Amino acid sequence: MLPVVDKPAIQYVVEEAVGAGLDDVLLITGRSKQSIENHFDRAYELEEALHAKEDWGKLEKVRQSSELSTMHYVRQGDPKGLGHAVLCAAQHVGHEPFAVLLGDDLIDPGDPLLKRMIEVREQFGGSVIALMEVDPDEVSLYGCAAIEATDADDVALITGLVEKPLKEEAPSNWAVIGRYVCDPDVFEVLRETPPGRGGEIQLTDALMTLAAKGEVRGVLFRGRRYDTGNKQEYLRTMVEFASKRDDLAPEFIPWLRTFLQQFPEQ
Ligand code: G1P
Repeated sequence: MLPVVDKPAIQYVVEEAVGAGLDDVLLITGRSKQSIENHFDRAYELEEALHAKEDWGKLEKVRQSSELSTMHYVRQGDPKGLGHAVLCAAQHVGHEPFAVLLGDDLIDPGDPLLKRMIEVREQFGGSVIALMEVDPDEVSLYGCAAIEATDADDVALITGLVEKPLKEEAPSNWAVIGRYVCDPDVFEVLRETPPGRGGEIQLTDALMTLAAKGEVRGVLFRGRRYDTGNKQEYLRTMVEFASKRDDLAPEFIPWLRTFLQQFPEQ
């Protein structure tokens, strides 16, 4: 629920899913996360108050979040890892392919990454992960992939996957970022996947099992990803998003320029 300019980060993620043509959104939440459900629900009292004040701009904003998509919620009772969170969706999803979007990771709203991943799934079947090159010193923060080139320069075949490897043991510096398009087979595999890194059931490990059968491809993402779970990145996200907004940038950018003059480079 951390705001990025004037919306919680999770709303950008839901908007991204809807923008890629997905019209059924299931949020896996945990204890004391009711504020998320409330955010995507109608807020009658607030709407009435804004109506009475004839504040149409704010009224539209408030309604936007409740009109985005059909929202469903499942609670992950015990936080046993990302793979376990995905398993909580099995009954809702059934035997359809589905996308997983991690709430901390924002993708530049103008970037068609998820659409491209869905296209790749439609073309080849199997599952599709999003990969991004990171500094070799940072691979231990991510799932990391061994890849083989394909005819398309933004698509690779995944031949190996390791969750948060040591720098020396990483198969490459292609990191898994928080977007996945999964074949429903992943549920069967997850049920059999033992706890891995950090004692948690890892989606990366289940996908490795499918990759060993040649069923996982990666879309090589060269755009901008924002990790709102990291303080420095969160600050950058806020500044970058505000700087791209037509309603805010004309005032914000000149202010930022003046503000930064207090901090000349050493
Ligand atoms: C999760 C995944 C990891 C991936 C990362 C991307 O890790 O397990 O493979 O690289 O998201 O943000 P987390 O950051 O939740 O520990």
